[in-house]
Amino acid sequence: MGRLDGKYAVVTGAGSGIGAAIARRIASEGASVLLADLHVDAARSVAAAIGGSATAAVADVSREDAVRDMIDSAVSRFGSLDILVNNAGIGEEATPIEDKPASDWHRVIETNLSSVFFGIKHAARVMKAAGRGGTIVNVSSILGSVGFRGAPAYVAAKHGVQGLTKAAALELAPFHVRVVAVQPAFIHTPLISAEMEAAVLPLHPIGRIGEPEEVAALVAFLVSEEAAFVTGTGVLIDGGYTAQ
Ligand code: NAI
Repeated sequence: MGRLDGKYAVVTGAGSGIGAAIARRIASEGASVLLADLHVDAARSVAAAIGGSATAAVADVSREDAVRDMIDSAVSRFGSLDILVNNAGIGEEATPIEDKPASDWHRVIETNLSSVFFGIKHAARVMKAAGRGGTIVNVSSILGSVGFRGAPAYVAAKHGVQGLTKAAALELAPFHVRVVAVQPAFIHTPLISAEMEAAVLPLHPIGRIGEPEEVAALVAFLVSEEAAFVTGTGVLIDGGYTAQ
């Protein structure tokens, strides 16, 4: 018996990094998972490796119609939706703020923040209608709590995710829908170049950056019944980064 037997889940950005690790982990605990990604081939190959009921779909989470279709297609495939992990996200070009094009700002805000709003909105719609509760996990960052030089849009987006998590959790609690954020420090994924890793490593008191599987283990706990009293908060997983 897995902790997530009989649960139906959507994970965005599941073709790579943290999202792929989350999809693998929650599937291994019994969930049926729809892996959504802009790069659907990547999501397909992760889904194929998982096997069983795992399936892939294309979705650009920065567009509301795509997120709506993603949620509706999960419900039509599975019959209902218990878990949404809003994970898809992008990094930010480190240009000086005075030179930063507005288009860069909008791209990061739409992909990393508006996407989370769209996900919560459409998951809430189907979860409330089904009346069986649910859990929404938003992959935020330590940069939802602290700043970082050169990444104003990313930092603003992740701080926005923290606020959105709280507001949505309050609104959805009466319907037994929990909304939680996870806040990783730097994690080994294609998002982090070797040069970036070398620069940020000393900021992690534990002496290394994190692994996607470590974030996935936390998410698996948060979407399980064991975390039934956790909502409206961000859970840090940061090797001590923000303790300093
Ligand atoms: P990654 O680059 O390995 O994976 C991100 C995935 O999201 C990719 O498969 C990509 O195709 C997909 N994606 C990008 N834009 C999309 C869109 N518009 N619609 C649908 N899918 C899209 O990155 P990683 O590191 O796994 O990041 C996942 C999440 O974790 C992001 O929200 C990121 O901000 C967050 N995070 C990452 C940290 C790190 O150090 N790697 C630290 C803290 C948070």
